[in-house]
Amino acid sequence: MPIHVCSYTKNIKGVTVLDSIECSFESGRIYGLQGKNSSGKTMLLRAISGLILPTSGYVEVDGEVVGEDIAFPPSIGLLIENPSFIQRYTGMKNLELLARLKGVVSANCVRLALERVGLDSTDKRPYRKYSLGMKQRLGIACAIMENPSIVLLDEPFNALDPSGVSCVKRVLASLREQGATIVVACHDAVELHQISDEIITLAEGRVVSWEKVEP
Ligand SMILES: Nc1ncnc2c1ncn2[C@@H]1O[C@H](COP(=O)(O)OP(=O)(O)O)[C@@H](O)[C@H]1O
Ligand SMILES: [Mg+2]
Repeated sequence: MPIHVCSYTKNIKGVTVLDSIECSFESGRIYGLQGKNSSGKTMLLRAISGLILPTSGYVEVDGEVVGEDIAFPPSIGLLIENPSFIQRYTGMKNLELLARLKGVVSANCVRLALERVGLDSTDKRPYRKYSLGMKQRLGIACAIMENPSIVLLDEPFNALDPSGVSCVKRVLASLREQGATIVVACHDAVELHQISDEIITLAEGRVVSWEKVEP
């Protein structure tokens, strides 16, 4: 699903956190957002997902303006900062509950999503006993379980061990294969270059460079 971010500016309490952003994202590609802390990576993901609305400019998803024609992009998988899950439920039960609320996917899809990120769907431990890395994997499973057309992941490699990192890389490659539009924010440039087709660099809320990564 194509995404266009057009002259997007966001001011929060007198601070310009996104400044005249212009960028487009196509299906079947992975875009890496890089930049220092506070450069606006998370804000740009929030803007695309409709979690914040612009001071000026707009985001268009598949021809529809977010916040006007549609409240949120349809078919979106999102991992932004700490997702909140119910502490006393297992990972499986948490995702099943969310899946049931939206009614899009079956328990089998939930199981598959857990396995894709290397979690055991029969694990009886409640979420509160999960390690940071397991929590991160569950957040990613949650973002991908509906096979969304748009996937936005904020710092997906945080807290992951090397096997977790490989799982996520494999999952991203297969989502790209299925034609998803994928945007990943990551402060680690090396990791980001390994997975991305294109790299967008942000600084102080502005796009300062855009490069295609050679395969
Ligand atoms: N809730 C908020 N209210 C006001 N300003 C915020 C808020 N969250 C982030 N910011 C500011 O927005 C800017 C961009 O932040 P962010 O997108 O989180 O950066 P990054 O993800 O690149 O580290 C920073 O200057 C940050 O201080
Ligand atoms: Mg961030």
